[in-house]
Amino acid sequence: DLPLAEIAQGRGFTYGCAVTARLLAEEPELAALVAREAGLIVPEYEAKFAALQPEEGRFDTEPLDALLRWAQHFRKSVRGHALVWHNAMPDWLPIALAEGRSRAQGVMEAHFDRVLSHTRDRIRDWDVVNEPIANPPGSDVPEPAGNSGDLRDTPWLRALGPDYIAIAFRAARQRDATLRLTLNDYGVEADSPPAEEKRRRLLRLLRDLRARNVPLDAVGIQAHLQMREAFNPAIFIAFVRDIRALGLQVLITELDVREVRPPVGDFPARDAAVALRVHAFASAAFEGGARTLLTWGISDRWSWLFNDQAVALGPGDVHRGLPFDWELNRKQMWRALARAFLGQ
Ligand code: G3I
Repeated sequence: DLPLAEIAQGRGFTYGCAVTARLLAEEPELAALVAREAGLIVPEYEAKFAALQPEEGRFDTEPLDALLRWAQHFRKSVRGHALVWHNAMPDWLPIALAEGRSRAQGVMEAHFDRVLSHTRDRIRDWDVVNEPIANPPGSDVPEPAGNSGDLRDTPWLRALGPDYIAIAFRAARQRDATLRLTLNDYGVEADSPPAEEKRRRLLRLLRDLRARNVPLDAVGIQAHLQMREAFNPAIFIAFVRDIRALGLQVLITELDVREVRPPVGDFPARDAAVALRVHAFASAAFEGGARTLLTWGISDRWSWLFNDQAVALGPGDVHRGLPFDWELNRKQMWRALARAFLGQ
C-alpha cells in the first residue's frame, strides 16, 4: 500500500500527525514512519507558550527550530499549535495577565510579534486560540461551578474579557496578511447532550466572529474520540456543513481514540471496533467538507494517552487509537483511514 500521505494527496486530502522534536531526534524508526506516512506535521509541544517563552522576554525557539529543520528536510508542511491557550502557560503568564488589560494586551502582542515573525516562512497555519468553549454540564471535565456563558473562564478571558478571542485573531492577522488563522476545540464530535450543547456554543461563537468580520479562516476539530460515546455521522456531517456555511475551512486536528477502561475484548476485536469508529468519523468529516486530517501522534507506543493518568492503561496490547501499533505495524485503523480518504 501507498503511505497515507500519498493516498490522501491523490484524492485532494492531507494526512498529518503530531510529533515532538525529541522523538524525531531520538527514535529513528518513528522519524522514518512519520517521514513516509505524514504530509503535514504539528508540534505536540514545541510551539506552545510555555515552550516558546518560558520567562517573559526569553524566547526558546530551539526545539521548534529543530522540528522545523526536520520538516524542511523531509518537505513536510507544519501547522502551529497554539498561540493563546489556558494550558502550557509558563508560570509568569497568568500573573502578568492578571495585572490588567493593557499589560495583558502587551504580553499577547509581544508573543505574537516574536513567534509569528520567527516562523513566518515555515508555518502558514496557526491555532490562534485553542479550546475557548466552556464544557457544558455532563461533560467529562465540566467547568468549575460559576463558569457562566459559552466561554471557558481562563486567564485570557479574565484579563481581556470575551473579546480576547477577536483580539487574538486581529493581532495575528495584523502581523501576517496570509496566515491561515484557525480556532481549535474538542468535545464536539459525539452524539450526546454535552457534545450537542458544545457544538451549539461553538457555532454561536463562530457566527458572532463572522458577523463582526473578525479575521478567521478555519476551525480545527480535535476529535479525541471515545469508544464509550455514541457517534452519529448525520449529526456530525451537519455540524461540519454548518461551519463550512460560514465560509470557514474545517480541519480534523488531533484524531485519536480512547477506549473504555478496562479494555473489553482481545486486541484484534478492539482494533476492529476502533477502526469502524474511525472510518465512520473520517468519512463523515470528509462528507461534511473537511480536507485535512491529523492524528495526535502516529503510533500507540508514543501516545499522550499513555502519560495522561486519566486514561493511562498498561503497556503491551493496549490500544491508544493511533494508526500504528507498538511495533510500528499498520493497524486496522490505518486501513480505515486509507479507505476513508479513498471514499470507500
Ligand atoms: O514540562 C516539561 C518542560 O519542562 C520541558 O521543557 C518540555 C520539553 O519537552 O517537556 C515538558 O513536559 C511535558 C510536555 O508535554 C512534553 O512534551 C509537559 O509537562 C506536559 O504537560 C506536556 O503535555 C502535553 C499537553 O498537551 C500539555 O501541553 C501533551 O504531550 C500533549 O499531547 C497535549 O496535547 C493536547 C493539545 O495540545 C490540545 N488538545 C488536547 C491534547 C491532549 O491533551
